[in-house]
Amino acid sequence: MLEETRGAPRVSRGAAERGGVWGGVWGAMSGPPTSKSAAILVVEGVVKRFGGLTAVNHASCKVVAGSITGLIGPNGSGKTTLFNCIAGTERPDAGRIELAGERIDGRAPSEICAMGLARTFQITRLFREMTVLENLVAVAHGRSDVNAVRRAQELLDLVEVRALEHALAGTLSYGQRKLAEIARALMFDPKLLLLDEPFAGINPRLQNRILGYLKRLRDQGVTLFLIDHEMRLLLDVCDTVLAMDTGELIAEGPPDAIRRDPRVLAAYF
Ligand SMILES: Nc1ncnc2c1ncn2[C@@H]1O[C@H](COP(=O)(O)OP(=O)(O)OP(=O)(O)O)[C@@H](O)[C@H]1O
Ligand SMILES: [Mg+2]
Repeated sequence: MLEETRGAPRVSRGAAERGGVWGGVWGAMSGPPTSKSAAILVVEGVVKRFGGLTAVNHASCKVVAGSITGLIGPNGSGKTTLFNCIAGTERPDAGRIELAGERIDGRAPSEICAMGLARTFQITRLFREMTVLENLVAVAHGRSDVNAVRRAQELLDLVEVRALEHALAGTLSYGQRKLAEIARALMFDPKLLLLDEPFAGINPRLQNRILGYLKRLRDQGVTLFLIDHEMRLLLDVCDTVLAMDTGELIAEGPPDAIRRDPRVLAAYF
């Protein structure tokens, strides 16, 4: 599904074996992170195995605070598993993960969430029997009811689905569910928001709307780390793109460079 790179020639890959993404990439492209580009998320040597399958294999990466960072990779390459390790729903077998300088690997998802990380899921997880508004208010910890409702309505306004606030989540269209789930994640006031395929399966007009929302969130200071396949969207919205293949992070850089990177083209061929 990496639409602009299908059919490209196969060439060698293996940045991970040659010292990982950071050895090759910062030097070649944008220089090491500085105080102006401090990392909000640092992933170092993360490994996640399911029985004999290594879904994430010594993955190391950084997400710069205030950036929109994309994560691409063929189906089954380990993107969601890496997000699960970051968000705490999977415990890594090795490696360390830091959020804003604090170690989070091995912590409970709720604890990581309280530290400033929220996420949306590849398959949305709204409570179908609750209204959209109730879905948002249900996750509002530490707010009064009045504040929770007010904040939920603001966020539904932000993603332009306020008109659906009293609809049961189970009656929403696929695209509407994606929007409501973004709003629900924002109820946590995250510093870092992980989005697993926010653009998948929705029409280009809605994709463009979501692009606009993500840019607005970035402008408001939320760091965004998102998985997607479509280079058109990633080119538009991402400052940096990471590429994964068979559990390894194989490339990192500005989206335009990543879409031409031979290792990435080979992974998708
Ligand atoms: N809970 C699990 N138990 C066993 N294997 C798993 C589990 N979760 C993921 N896997 C396997 O790990 C590998 C990576 O899966 P993952 O869902 O992370 O890939 P992905 O890059 O997100 O793929 P997609 O683009 O299809 O969403 C796959 O081979 C998958 O079948
Ligand atoms: Mg996935």
